[in-house]
Amino acid sequence: MEPDPKNANNAAQGVLALAQPIASPLTRAAIFLVLTVKPGAENRSTVRSFCADLSALYRAVDFRDIEAGLSCVMGFGSEVWDRLFGTPRPVELHPFREIRSGGRHAVATSGDLLFHIRAKRMDLCFELATQITGRLGDAVEPVDEVHGFRYFDDRDLIGFVDGTENPRGQEATDAVVIADEDAAFAGGSYVIVQKYLHDLPAWNALSTEAQERVIGRTKLADIELDESIKPTCSHSSLTTIEENGKEIKILRDNMPFGRPTQGEFGTYFIGYSKSPSTIELMLQNMFVGRPPGNYDRLLDFSRAVTGNLFFVPSATFLDDVSDEPPADAALANKAQATDETSQSAPSNNKDGSLGIGSLKGEIGHE
Ligand code: HEM
Repeated sequence: MEPDPKNANNAAQGVLALAQPIASPLTRAAIFLVLTVKPGAENRSTVRSFCADLSALYRAVDFRDIEAGLSCVMGFGSEVWDRLFGTPRPVELHPFREIRSGGRHAVATSGDLLFHIRAKRMDLCFELATQITGRLGDAVEPVDEVHGFRYFDDRDLIGFVDGTENPRGQEATDAVVIADEDAAFAGGSYVIVQKYLHDLPAWNALSTEAQERVIGRTKLADIELDESIKPTCSHSSLTTIEENGKEIKILRDNMPFGRPTQGEFGTYFIGYSKSPSTIELMLQNMFVGRPPGNYDRLLDFSRAVTGNLFFVPSATFLDDVSDEPPADAALANKAQATDETSQSAPSNNKDGSLGIGSLKGEIGHE
């Protein structure tokens, strides 16, 4: 999956773990797939062997138009991580934490695997999604599939330019790629996705000035409002996080999607960060408010209908996953608990390793 050498990180013990292409440039098209892995040792084995094959699938599709900037990022939910890989696990991986406040609700929905596929051309995204789902076959069940498109000059469907304050270059890499915070998973990242639906008639009934106060930026020119007039409940204020006077950035690649005949107009929010706690704090500020009650008025017009947290291991990790499940008590219990039959519990590796090929020896997975 096009490991990005720019994102290379020196993991513990001096081994290079290549990050997945998280910080790829914005593209014109994207597909977001969220899937669950069915119970059963066979299904787990299919998914494990798929992990190492993904880069070959990617290369085959990418080569059909190498100018089109195809990329694919694969993420794993907390529960399926235990079923597939056992321990060690990424230190901050946990299920998405729902938030309820007033009438606002950041829902938590099911999802074991995320595929974030991007390219200049939708046909390439579509082809890779087809290859991925074909290869995973009956081992998985679809939960959600969203086809996103770039809308005019990087605007979302509420008409504002979206993505301006994203970090770039090295700053982006530093914001999203785990280094020595969790040395065993260096080169990895966390990603939170939420599918939002907008009440466009209500939003469009607001004056442009009122909309600008909700977002905290001007609509046409996309300039940040002056602090003297920017409300503390504006979206951009509540999602600005500072720690010891330094801003903590995340990397977003939101995409519009929709079906006009169904009155469906949405934004697929996707945010990468080296720690999920940064995005969780933003969500807390948006849904509960900072201080509580001073919530994000964008939520009066936008409703989250999905919510997931995934860990994105390094490309090196994915390439080195073997078909054999690891011998791990936690994994065996977890897998057995989710299986329909006890016969489908995983077999043990003789060496007691995680079963992720050469990587285990390289960056201390044992
Ligand atoms: C309905 C869904 C959403 C829409 C339509 C939306 C739209 C926008 C827009 C128009 C901006 C200003 C331009 C920019 O800097 O990108 C913005 C900024 C931002 N948004 Fe969102 N957003 C949504 C959800 C979220 C969520 C769920 C989070 C995080 C949990 C988030 C985090 C941010 C951050 C960090 C910024 C940059 C703030 C700054 O540094 O000024 N957004 N968003």
